[in-house]
Amino acid sequence: MTLEYIIRPYCPNDREAIFRIAGDTAYFGEPIEAYMEDRRLFTDAFYTFYTDYEPEHARVAVAEDQVVGFLVGCTDPHRYRGVMGLEILPKVGARLWRGYYQIGPKTRRYLWEVFKAFIKGELPGADETLYPAHFHINIASQWRGFGIGKTLIVTYLQQLIESGVPGVYLQTTSQNKTACHLYESMGFRLLGSKRTQMWRWLIQEDIENRCYGRRL
Ligand SMILES: CC(C)(COP(=O)(O)OP(=O)(O)OC[C@H]1O[C@@H](n2cnc3c(N)ncnc32)[C@H](O)[C@@H]1OP(=O)(O)O)[C@@H](O)C(=O)NCCC(=O)NCCS
Repeated sequence: MTLEYIIRPYCPNDREAIFRIAGDTAYFGEPIEAYMEDRRLFTDAFYTFYTDYEPEHARVAVAEDQVVGFLVGCTDPHRYRGVMGLEILPKVGARLWRGYYQIGPKTRRYLWEVFKAFIKGELPGADETLYPAHFHINIASQWRGFGIGKTLIVTYLQQLIESGVPGVYLQTTSQNKTACHLYESMGFRLLGSKRTQMWRWLIQEDIENRCYGRRL
């Protein structure tokens, strides 16, 4: 079955749709509420950078007059860390302090598991001199399998090549099976892989945190 869709640059009106799809797909393609009570904590902390600080590397897929998927990216890891550390995370922290977010047992458990995984070195990354760019991609569930993900990545890679960016990486897990298949089929190489127990409280098995990269 084919689907008519277009890929176009992000505009500020797409922000809500990107945040909605990001929340709807954050648990291995399913809604984030499996491990976090208030999805605003996740989208404010991890997506604001891409929509508000580097929108030039964001793209959306539109089908039947609605945003059905997106790719957001960053080409400068130093700027990313600076904005996250000095602007976004302090703002999220202040909101947290004021009680803006609903924090429950799931969020606490998730943050604890991430902290443990970090301490144990279970979150593989890339050499940023070789792979300075990164991205996140998500397609709403009913629109998967139509080629949108592949087209979004091809468009982003073209933009990176035109800008002279030498490499790009992304982080995922072995549980994101379609995603791993897609990246491998597009020439991404597994740069690192670490077994982790961080999801055991939800899926009763160990999975791998993976980092894929592609030189351009
Ligand atoms: C991973 C994802 C972005 C891929 O986007 P998509 O539009 O569904 O993928 P495409 O239609 O472009 O298909 C890409 C490839 O995956 C294959 N594929 C698509 N759906 C599949 C499925 N359900 N099972 C197995 N393979 C599948 C396609 O056949 C294609 O492979 P090919 O090029 O070898 O034929 C999308 O499925 C998604 O958002 N998944 C949930 C969230 C997620 O995992 N995000 C990535 C986090 S790192």
